[in-house]
Amino acid sequence: MLLPTRSLILLTTTCLLRPTTATPPCPLEGPVFPKPLHLSQSNTIKTAVANLTTTFEDFAVSSAKNFSFTLSVFSAHDAEPVFSFFHTAPKLASINTTGVKTVDSDTVFRIGSLTKVLTNYLFLINAGDRIWNEPITKYVDELRALGNGSEVTNTAWDQVTIGGLASQMTGIPRDYALLGELTQTPATRDKVIEYGFPPLSDDERPPCGDFPTCDREQFFHGIASFYPSLAPFTSPAYSNVAFQLLGYALETITGKTFDSLLQETLINPLGLNRTFLRKPEESLGVIQGTPAKTGWTFDLGESAAAGNMYTSITDLSTIGRSILSYKLLDPVPTRRWLKPFSFSTDPKAAVGAPWGARRINVDPEQPYRWTTAYNKAGSIGMYSAVLAILPDYDIGFAALLHGDIPGNANFHLLDMAGKILLSAIESASRSEAASLYNGHYSSTTDKLNSSITISTDDLPGLSVTQWISNGTDFLRTSTILQNGYTPVTPRIRLYPADLTNKKQVVFKAIFEDADAPSKEGMFSTDCATWVNVEAVIYGSAAMDEVIFNAVDEEQGGKAGSVSLPALRVTLDREG
Ligand SMILES: *[C@@H]1O[C@H](CO)[C@@H](O)[C@H](O)[C@H]1NC(C)=O
Ligand SMILES: *[C@@H]1O[C@H](CO)[C@@H](O)[C@H](O)[C@H]1NC(C)=O
Ligand SMILES: *[C@@H]1O[C@H](CO)[C@@H](O)[C@H](O)[C@H]1NC(C)=O
Ligand SMILES: *[C@@H]1O[C@H](CO)[C@@H](O)[C@H](O)[C@H]1NC(C)=O
Ligand SMILES: *[C@@H]1O[C@H](CO)[C@@H](O)[C@H](O)[C@H]1NC(C)=O
Ligand SMILES: *[C@@H]1O[C@H](CO)[C@@H](O)[C@H](O)[C@H]1NC(C)=O
Ligand SMILES: *[C@@H]1O[C@H](CO)[C@@H](O)[C@H](O)[C@H]1NC(C)=O
Repeated sequence: MLLPTRSLILLTTTCLLRPTTATPPCPLEGPVFPKPLHLSQSNTIKTAVANLTTTFEDFAVSSAKNFSFTLSVFSAHDAEPVFSFFHTAPKLASINTTGVKTVDSDTVFRIGSLTKVLTNYLFLINAGDRIWNEPITKYVDELRALGNGSEVTNTAWDQVTIGGLASQMTGIPRDYALLGELTQTPATRDKVIEYGFPPLSDDERPPCGDFPTCDREQFFHGIASFYPSLAPFTSPAYSNVAFQLLGYALETITGKTFDSLLQETLINPLGLNRTFLRKPEESLGVIQGTPAKTGWTFDLGESAAAGNMYTSITDLSTIGRSILSYKLLDPVPTRRWLKPFSFSTDPKAAVGAPWGARRINVDPEQPYRWTTAYNKAGSIGMYSAVLAILPDYDIGFAALLHGDIPGNANFHLLDMAGKILLSAIESASRSEAASLYNGHYSSTTDKLNSSITISTDDLPGLSVTQWISNGTDFLRTSTILQNGYTPVTPRIRLYPADLTNKKQVVFKAIFEDADAPSKEGMFSTDCATWVNVEAVIYGSAAMDEVIFNAVDEEQGGKAGSVSLPALRVTLDREG
């Protein structure tokens, strides 16, 4: 089964001659290194932060004359931000404002639809996702009364599930009377006939909307006559109504108001002092103009759960950290939450609840090295906001903006920060992993000729550069056993399993042929590592299981030994 030595020599030569044709590693989905715990101490990060400071100072002067913003990059493992930046629009100094004159980490901004993330968070904290597949009609009486239409002109409300609403998959109406309704929008309401729309009868015209906002009864009366937008679970389609309904359902389930749930289960436990569902004192906010004109005062009424909230960059970062550190929601439901539900038309973007999942190619030279940012943006009046969290690194990016904001400036700020920081974060993660796990481990107790060498290089994960088990070249043997053929160039890399206790950290070994012939086609892929996890088992222990031990906090978490359950051996670190 093993290759004769002659081929081995041949191989080495082939490898040296064709380094660029090597098959790229196909890691497991998720982090390729343990999550970095000491980003702020990393020199790579310090250099990147210095660069970011210069970059944002230049940007503030050249491109942000007319708006203010606060930005923060945070880690779940550090109370201080990795990077933060505050910019006050110069004109704020010269105008009359009832808000702050200088923006800082406590300045309150509106966040618009970013509210939806907090609504979903509150739902999961207070009701869980066990009822994700139950119909909304079970929890909202008015919808039950609307019946079970399945025609083109009636929404089949009994087919509209809680989870479908949370992930924008139900095809229900987007808004009722509030946003997008031409008869309610000051800029358009007097021009509709001019545009070519016919006159409406009184009962066709919403009796409420922008001002006064619709009460609960008017809202349900309104959506009763609305056609469905798409069949449920066809395509994601953005809806504000969905989040108003989720808010109502949560009130039914808990018997508490949305406001009190926000206060008791999010604001109080996290110690947030600048987060509000309804308009707070003007002196806390940044208001570049009159409160009415800037949109500071505009109240969404019954639709508050879809977009009414206000917060500061400190509070928004605290909320982001709480998600990543499982402070209010357990690890498993949190990880379930931070997964996409549907594709979108852009292959790099997917849709979750209600996160937009954005796939980011971490290393342009590695076609299968991707991480995912879970994003939600919002804008209302002259305010805009965005939060992106990257669970693979336990980090987040947040920005709050106000003033005359160019389109997409919220995402642009994150793009600027991410472009400089992400590769530094990957590099810092690799360095932390190197200091904890790199080394030569060998048998000291059983007098076995068994050893393994772990090191990091330019590729994702930890590399196994040498592996001998009781005198055999196990690097080669294991790769043959795993792949079912003799690999041209065996390659073993270790990726975190996210299984850990105070003393042990588990990695999965991935056994690849670094020079495998390409198999990519219409239905086939070169990269499906997940299919082969634990494919080889010896006496009920998986060959790919690698457990680092004595991961001692006092020693900075440095591994003292490695256990290989299939080989029934523990190898001690040398030196
Ligand atoms: C910041 O980094 C970018 C590349 O990441 C580089 O082009 C630029 O010159 C750097 N700027 C400063 C001020 O170091
Ligand atoms: C700021 O606003 C002024 C007047 O509205 C405009 O002329 C100028 O181009 C804007 N500046 C930037 C950097 O967008
Ligand atoms: C600011 O308000 C004061 C008093 O209300 C008024 O006298 C002044 O003209 C205003 N300034 C500007 C720039 O609007
Ligand atoms: C809708 O259908 C459900 C079963 O799917 C039924 O229990 C309910 O009574 C129906 N409601 C109306 C108003 O027809
Ligand atoms: C808000 O709370 C944080 C800690 O919870 C505290 O550091 C900060 O000073 C508070 N800010 C204000 C304005 O009270
Ligand atoms: C090591 O290999 C020898 C044969 O070379 C065998 O007799 C022995 O049982 C093996 N021991 C272990 C612990 O694998
Ligand atoms: C251990 O095994 C390897 C691989 O077979 C061999 O090259 C090496 O010489 C052996 N070492 C000892 C001390 O026997």
